[in-house]
Amino acid sequence: MYSIEWRLLFILLEILTNLLPLLPISASITGHHSNPQFPCQLRQHQSYPFCNTSLPISARAQSLVSLLTPSEKIQQLSNNASQIERLGIPAYEWWSESLHGIATNGPGVSFNGSIPSATSFPQVLVMAASFNRSLWFTVASAIAVEARAMYNVGQAGLTFWAPNINIFRDPRWGRGQETPGEDPMVAAAYAIEYVKGFQGENKQDRFGEKRVLKGSDDEDGDSGKLLLSACCKHLTAYDLEKWENFTRYTFNAVISQQDLEETYQPPFRSCVEEGRASCLMCSYNAVNGVPSCASKALLQKARSDWGFKGYITSDCDAVATIFEFQQYANSPEDAVADALKAGVDINCGTYMLRNTQSALEQGKIREEDIDRALFNLFSVQLRLGLFNGDLLKGHLGKLGPQDVCSPEHRKLALEAAKQGVVLLKNDKKFLPLKKNRFASLAVIGPTANDSINLGGGYSGVPCNPTSFVEGFKAYTQKISYAAGCLDIPCDSDSGFTAAIHLARKADVAIVVAGLDSSQETEDLDRVSLLLPGKQMDLISVIVQASKRPVVLILMGGGPIDVSFAKNDPRIASILWVGYPGETGGQALAEVIFGKFNPGGKLPMTWYPESFTNVPMNDMRMRPDPSSGYPGRTYRFYTGNTVYEFGHGLSYTNYTYNFLSVPTKLSLLASSVVVGSNNNMPHERADGLDSIRIDEVATCDALKFYAHISVINNGDMDGSHVVMLFSRVPATFTGAPQKQLIGFDRVHTVTHRATETSILVDPCKHLSVVNEQGTRVLPLGAHTLMLEGLEHSVSIEI
Ligand SMILES: *[C@@H]1O[C@H](CO)[C@@H](O)[C@H](O)[C@H]1NC(C)=O
Ligand SMILES: *[C@@H]1O[C@H](CO)[C@@H](O)[C@H](O)[C@H]1NC(C)=O
Ligand SMILES: *[C@@H]1O[C@H](CO)[C@@H](O)[C@H](O)[C@H]1NC(C)=O
Ligand SMILES: *[C@@H]1O[C@H](CO)[C@@H](O)[C@H](O)[C@H]1NC(C)=O
Ligand SMILES: *[C@@H]1O[C@H](CO)[C@@H](O)[C@H](O)[C@H]1NC(C)=O
Ligand SMILES: *[C@@H]1O[C@H](CO)[C@@H](O)[C@H](O)[C@H]1NC(C)=O
Ligand SMILES: *[C@@H]1O[C@H](CO)[C@@H](O)[C@H](O)[C@H]1NC(C)=O
Repeated sequence: MYSIEWRLLFILLEILTNLLPLLPISASITGHHSNPQFPCQLRQHQSYPFCNTSLPISARAQSLVSLLTPSEKIQQLSNNASQIERLGIPAYEWWSESLHGIATNGPGVSFNGSIPSATSFPQVLVMAASFNRSLWFTVASAIAVEARAMYNVGQAGLTFWAPNINIFRDPRWGRGQETPGEDPMVAAAYAIEYVKGFQGENKQDRFGEKRVLKGSDDEDGDSGKLLLSACCKHLTAYDLEKWENFTRYTFNAVISQQDLEETYQPPFRSCVEEGRASCLMCSYNAVNGVPSCASKALLQKARSDWGFKGYITSDCDAVATIFEFQQYANSPEDAVADALKAGVDINCGTYMLRNTQSALEQGKIREEDIDRALFNLFSVQLRLGLFNGDLLKGHLGKLGPQDVCSPEHRKLALEAAKQGVVLLKNDKKFLPLKKNRFASLAVIGPTANDSINLGGGYSGVPCNPTSFVEGFKAYTQKISYAAGCLDIPCDSDSGFTAAIHLARKADVAIVVAGLDSSQETEDLDRVSLLLPGKQMDLISVIVQASKRPVVLILMGGGPIDVSFAKNDPRIASILWVGYPGETGGQALAEVIFGKFNPGGKLPMTWYPESFTNVPMNDMRMRPDPSSGYPGRTYRFYTGNTVYEFGHGLSYTNYTYNFLSVPTKLSLLASSVVVGSNNNMPHERADGLDSIRIDEVATCDALKFYAHISVINNGDMDGSHVVMLFSRVPATFTGAPQKQLIGFDRVHTVTHRATETSILVDPCKHLSVVNEQGTRVLPLGAHTLMLEGLEHSVSIEI
């Protein structure tokens, strides 16, 4: 294995990295801490072609690369890119973070300045639970406004490393909370909205400045039109921190072509193809023996097949890991060469700064390999307008402290938190609490009065966070609070007595339980799906002491096996709030007291504790009955669940109708492109024909709308998530049990029907990936499903 010295160095690096945001950030890091200096400002630089805004971006980037010496070039290969004084180019820090609000995790962000805090939106998994695309877009646009304001005052960069769109493959994963969940289609949809909202493309921004791209292959059309740069991470199949002998630094994810194409890659593909992300980050882990950051196949494919235009960064020290941890390369120089040749443009960390010169000298790379990387890096900076003069002079330069933590953004954060609340259980309509039904409330739980840690991983400094206890105070003054447990690990029951005392006296008891970063975070996976420590004991003593049934609130990202609570009639209601962000207290209170009708749905399967017997390193999605492997996610998992993907109740109830949906789709034989070998275009799979979708010439002609009506049968208006699933013909083996093919969050009015239409593109939505990794469209009867309602669509030739 790797040397002790290296491990120590690595730990030191990690500590430094974690500390960086806390340290004063000097002007050289952000490059513009006081009054930003931009290139091309001084007369003596203006004649350089890279300053000439009439030239195409590619020509400008090329010209800049051509002016640099080898050592100046190498100094650019780090997140902390050096200044090039003689050309008037300041230093630039590429690493800022913005997962669900501006976060402290990257050295590019500082909260020490005229902007001391930023809006903390709910954690991504919670926003995913809203299944509301326009919410995702709007939140990303709001984060972008705050990011740009912080940039203007020298407290952030223009390049941010979000979103995290890996599949939440295993319930133990410590960073599952950062993702949009377990479904590739939902993750792809989230990625598209986040990137579009954040990068500010294809929309009218709040200043009326139109940012329209001329065409997908016109890299020059977006000169200066990238508001900010978003980064889809971590390419690919990164979803394990530490499990048994495995760490993210050493892990080799063994993945079939089928699972890769069907599950792991779709979010990245959409992020590039539809979101037009300007950055990708390669992950620490290897995929089938090749570290992601050394994988030409993986990184080149993004450019050649998906049309990726932007820069590729390594995860932090993920070039070092190619040699030091993965032992894929034989020397630091080989690691640098592997990464550069595979397509990495920048290394988060200092490894390339330290080892590229010797890699050149040893002939492992050529200067052209570095030039290619710099071309990609400078192109993104040029698209951001960094070489177009004083960026603070434009409309966007006016954004400042007044645009951060604005009432508008707080309202949006509250909206996001409410839309993400998932009502898991509500026996006999115990909730909402009606003011006249009780006099006093006991709120119990170690985090119920905590306003600091509401955001989960990759948080910043929230503006004005409110705890759950504070949130409830808006509805009742007769409120008592006890922690019960000292903290989330809850090792002691010494606080139980005080909590029991309060629960006995109160009319209603609410227990806030769950997880925090002591259980799940970067570098920390869970080992159990049960509530930590004595939390379950706390809940049972409160249940016994309480006059009425108890309300259980669950915090945390990963699913929790709360079967005991699900099955206990003395626990009337269970709500999942995840990490609701700074407005969590108010959001929960509005839901509990019925001011807001919950409509969130779980974006991940809640597995029972027995799932921890499944090896976390097993990447297979499909079950393997011969070894008892149960498969993963709602699409394949065959075991019992605590709560299913898509589960989520409301204070009202809904029924559906399919209004108009075709029953038959005909693929004319003539519209099928016959393969060059003149074989029959369709293959036999278990007696059923299927067609490779790349052989269907008329995919567009097959598209249809599923017109659906949703009837709100209850007494309360509410917004409701319509989820349309499909199942391929029964005889087609190896296909998902069902797959989500469309969703829409709609407003509904009590005792009325609301109509919605979901576009179905059969080539995309009704197809499956075969064992060779090729998408095929099975012929025969497909089933469309809406919570218990089914409709058959037959695809015929
Ligand atoms: C914040 O910045 C000021 C002025 O640049 C500096 O004196 C101070 O030490 C910084 N504080 C922290 C906590 O970084
Ligand atoms: C900028 O480029 C354009 C197009 O090539 C050229 O006509 C113009 O002279 C250049 N301007 C300067 C200042 O070099
Ligand atoms: C960033 O790079 C500059 C110049 O190379 C150096 O002086 C500075 O110490 C670096 N900062 C960090 C945090 O590594
Ligand atoms: C972990 O390593 C030990 C010692 O090499 C080995 O016995 C054990 O089987 C490994 N565990 C797994 C899950 O691979
Ligand atoms: C709850 O938190 C508030 C604000 O931090 C604090 O003033 C109060 O004492 C706390 N209440 C209890 C019972 O701990
Ligand atoms: C739906 O809600 C209405 C009004 O509360 C109630 O009468 C009806 O029984 C409910 N239906 C179902 C299926 O729960
Ligand atoms: C979706 O989110 C947007 C943005 O917050 C909101 O205006 C809209 O009402 C939401 N839609 C539904 C149906 O809840």
